Amino acid sequence: MAGGDPHALLAAAADQMGKPPEGTPRRPRVGVDLGTASCVLVVLDSSDEGDCPVWVESAGSGALQDGVVVDFARAVATVRALRDRAVDALGTELSTAATAYPPCIPVADARACTYVCETAGFEDVTLVDEVTAAQRTLEITDGVVVDVGGGSTGVGVFRDGRLERLDDRPGGGHHLDLVLAGALGVETGEAERFKRERPTDALPILTPGLHRIAESIRAMTRGTDADLPLHLAGGALMIPRAGDVLAQYLQRTVVTHPHALLITPLGIARSAP
Ligand SMILES: Nc1ncnc2c1ncn2[C@@H]1O[C@H](COP(=O)(O)OP(=O)(O)OP(=O)(O)O)[C@@H](O)[C@H]1O
Ligand SMILES: [Mg+2]
Repeated sequence: MAGGDPHALLAAAADQMGKPPEGTPRRPRVGVDLGTASCVLVVLDSSDEGDCPVWVESAGSGALQDGVVVDFARAVATVRALRDRAVDALGTELSTAATAYPPCIPVADARACTYVCETAGFEDVTLVDEVTAAQRTLEITDGVVVDVGGGSTGVGVFRDGRLERLDDRPGGGHHLDLVLAGALGVETGEAERFKRERPTDALPILTPGLHRIAESIRAMTRGTDADLPLHLAGGALMIPRAGDVLAQYLQRTVVTHPHALLITPLGIARSAP
């Protein structure tokens, strides 16, 4: 059971990924992260002792751009398949879920995330913004949660546990792939592989792209306390030393967390009733 320690919770979720569950959860809470790069379904078994990840599965969707659903049918098919597999494996009906939208998108686009989950079979869907979800995993009371995903960078400034500012801009891992593809003269799929397999070689090429993400974070945190540490969530900055590049460029404290890809999906599940 991964009670109050965010890193223990993240490690438990990473460990559960792709594994069969150990039994049927007593109080399942489901989170669906409709990401640009991938769609992640997390089931927690929640009790007074804490949240225990019992099912974690990820699937590429290709149905979103910058966090916005652009192919409804494909998004529904992806979530339905993830839900059906979870129901089968866990041996229990899953009728409620939480899902998330990137902050500051139009209300109709945020609602589309709810409709995707409802059409995929969840009867009761709670909607939360992605940055607040990430904060629910990291439990940051004073700091800036920065979620850099495949398509966009979301920022939430938290003070005394209260959300002071929330913003989101395009720019993420996909844009880093474009930079790398251009520099190496390869397709983006090949650039993505290179980025993961040879991060040390990729980092110098990607540094200007990381500075662009840093500028975007600077713009989205302007007017807030510059002493607040930046906490990195999302997959795009999982490149070793990317956090150092940001820290040096922005002259701010940057905190990285293990299994950053799972921070937002876990927090979405924690937002479920
Ligand atoms: N080991 C890694 N090294 C570098 N980049 C990685 C690594 N693993 C994942 N990524 C990048 O992380 C991105 C996906 O992150 P994440 O799952 O947080 O995005 P998403 O939630 O699907 O997108 P968004 O939140 O923007 O809608 C991809 O662009 C991918 O290239
Ligand atoms: Mg995301």
